[in-house]
Amino acid sequence: VSHDLVDLRDYERAARRSLPRHLFDHVAGGAHDEILVRRNRSAFEALTLRPRYLRDVSERVLATTLLGAEVSLPVFASPAGNKSVVHPDGDAEVARATGRSRTLMIVPARSPEALKHVAKAATGPLWAQITHLGRDNTAELVRAAEALGYLAVCPVVDAPLLHLMERDVALVRRGLTPQAGPPRTTSSMIMQFTWNDLAWLRDITRLPIVLKGVTHPEDARLALERGVSAIFVSNHGARWNDATLSSVESLEEVADAVGGRVEIYLDSGIRRGSDILKAIALGARAVGIGRPLFWGLAESGSDGVHHVLEILRAELDVALAYSGKTSVRDIGPDLVNIPLGWGSAIRRART
Ligand SMILES: Cc1cc2nc3c(=O)[nH]c(=O)nc-3n(C[C@H](O)[C@H](O)[C@H](O)COP(=O)(O)O)c2cc1C
Repeated sequence: VSHDLVDLRDYERAARRSLPRHLFDHVAGGAHDEILVRRNRSAFEALTLRPRYLRDVSERVLATTLLGAEVSLPVFASPAGNKSVVHPDGDAEVARATGRSRTLMIVPARSPEALKHVAKAATGPLWAQITHLGRDNTAELVRAAEALGYLAVCPVVDAPLLHLMERDVALVRRGLTPQAGPPRTTSSMIMQFTWNDLAWLRDITRLPIVLKGVTHPEDARLALERGVSAIFVSNHGARWNDATLSSVESLEEVADAVGGRVEIYLDSGIRRGSDILKAIALGARAVGIGRPLFWGLAESGSDGVHHVLEILRAELDVALAYSGKTSVRDIGPDLVNIPLGWGSAIRRART
């Protein structure tokens, strides 16, 4: 690992230099004008900390648990398909990295074989992310996940159909496939996971269900009624929708609706240790990273991903001390200043 790479932005810059343009773009890209890609960052920048001093912060605890699994820091690998654009064995390399950093990986479950391959490389906890392509396929993946010791299943709900990002048009022109399956230029592939599918999934497995992509408080409430074990607030790194709130702006309302009954996680825009603190202050138990996994892989495989996680660990540790806190389990809303006009303060349209 190069010592020139000090923070996640260095990793992004290095990936921009080393990867072919269309592959870097595939990872970087978001929907349409990429307003939400920027908003996922600008919202974190607008949220500020409210530190307390004169406290003894000489010892700090970053470890926590995610649905009972112990992790050494509240950061995990979000599920991301198509790692082959940056590394031939990307998912297994990420599993090696999260194992070394003693944290969780959410594995994109593309096939039982893929789940098995990653499980072999892993030394830490794994959850299986399911993209619903029909009940037969999902049931097969869930059975594989159970048999292989995956600790939860994580259906993603925010992409009811597959639509090509505009930056990916360049990939398709080259005959490359930015997403699983054949190249396509139209929104052809339905991947919808509905409330009925959730009830069905609850019936066919005893594994905890983590619902990824929830941003509306009412959806969170309905999900709890249907027995989910955790809510994962995410806008998919702004890759599908370009006209919503950032995920951290959505978090407070969702946390209100959940009322502490289940764990909440967040991703989309996490790049700094202080971002992690801010998300935890607003109700997240832990956060995920997506694109930084690709930058780490592009730089040096599992070593790069491990280093990315260790950078975030070091930044979080310092941010904790500078906030007057000693544990990630002891952070609440008093730690942040919320900009006016956020979340529930947004004026609703007349109904
Ligand atoms: C290249 C790429 C592929 C992704 N593939 C998936 C996927 O297969 N399933 C999924 O649930 N999320 C997927 N995501 C979204 C991530 O899980 C995560 O929500 C997002 O990347 C977080 O935002 P960040 O990139 O700003 O950290 C993907 C993201 C990227 C960048």
